[in-house]
Amino acid sequence: MGKTHCAMTNVPLLDLGPQNRALEAQFEAAFRDVLRSNQFIMGPRLEAFEKDCAAFLGVKHAFGVSSGTDALLLALMALGIGEGDEVLVPAFTFFCTAGSVARLGARPVWVDIDPHHFNLSLADAARKVSPRTRAIMPVHLFGQALDLDALESFAAAHRIRVIEDAAQSMGARWKGRLTMSVGDFGATSFFPSKNLGGMGDSGLLTTQDDALAERARILRVHGMQPKYYHRELGANFRMDPLQASLLHLKLPHLPSYNCARAGNAIFYQTALKGARGIAENRPGADQSAKILLPVDFSGQGIWNQFTLRVPHGRRDALKAFLTARKIGCEIYYPVPLHRQECFAGAGYRGGDGAPVSERLAAEVLSIPIFPELTAEQRQWVADSLADFAAGKSE
Ligand SMILES: Cc1ncc(COP(=O)(O)O)c(C=O)c1O
Repeated sequence: MGKTHCAMTNVPLLDLGPQNRALEAQFEAAFRDVLRSNQFIMGPRLEAFEKDCAAFLGVKHAFGVSSGTDALLLALMALGIGEGDEVLVPAFTFFCTAGSVARLGARPVWVDIDPHHFNLSLADAARKVSPRTRAIMPVHLFGQALDLDALESFAAAHRIRVIEDAAQSMGARWKGRLTMSVGDFGATSFFPSKNLGGMGDSGLLTTQDDALAERARILRVHGMQPKYYHRELGANFRMDPLQASLLHLKLPHLPSYNCARAGNAIFYQTALKGARGIAENRPGADQSAKILLPVDFSGQGIWNQFTLRVPHGRRDALKAFLTARKIGCEIYYPVPLHRQECFAGAGYRGGDGAPVSERLAAEVLSIPIFPELTAEQRQWVADSLADFAAGKSE
């Protein structure tokens, strides 16, 4: 294994170019179509996209919205969650899951995560339920679904609502069941780095419930019904038809994008199997390993990120090592949510005990997994990980 510096291959963490270039002529035609339609807000192009998203996800209702964050906010608003309510959220994820709860005056309650699949621990959630708990917001992190059957039983047992944050997992399944189809609401994001990435901000909200769908539909446009009559306070959470048209062209390719990511993950796992200092991040894994590789416990994840654990205080050394070899990598996420400054002193309980989140924030490092990685690029990444784990320095 191992290449010399002169053979170094540049590997960005993410390159949107090849995927979007392949559809460029169709995007240009879609842009012209929207331009000539003169319909720039809502309308049939958005509805057609929503209909196909609903079919893809196996849900009754799907709404295009302005972002993944706004999808979460709209779901919470439609469920009437606010002041005095508590919502269970993972302590280790992107900020906005907890941020949307706090913005409505409700209290995010920090749930610790599982150290192997990185999703929230339902056992810890059970310890943190209180009479004020109204909902749980699991995040299917890095493309892997939480156990959806266990989630459903948990919510039923505690009589609370479920909002699935599937921003990183559109198309991921648990035992055949799709994320976004199980909770009262499902939310995803079309941020450009997502598996279905747009050309700007937008997101999607889903539900199987007709009454909740109707409420979300009204709140999406300022709580307005009929036109210029506002019984309650909503906001502008609309998605542009231009964005919908562009994403609609990419939607049929999502399974192949997801499949290519899974192929890259299998490549890394196979290439590094048995390599010195490298183990899989499973219960009982060799504690002396220098790098722990992620495992898709559901077998049906979509690999939005391929996130390593680098224990023993060596994470930043691996980041520097990969950077020197022109391999892109990023820390998702360096600070657990209960440690974020905006939550300090705002009456939120401290860590509430989230030691795994604390540990992982210091250990995680995500490496390139995007669908269009070339064989040479992924080989260079695998060789470099093996070199680091074997103690080879630059
Ligand atoms: C887990 C998670 N939830 C929510 C979001 C919010 O999505 P957006 O950036 O579209 O607001 C993101 C992504 O950025 C995310 O990764």
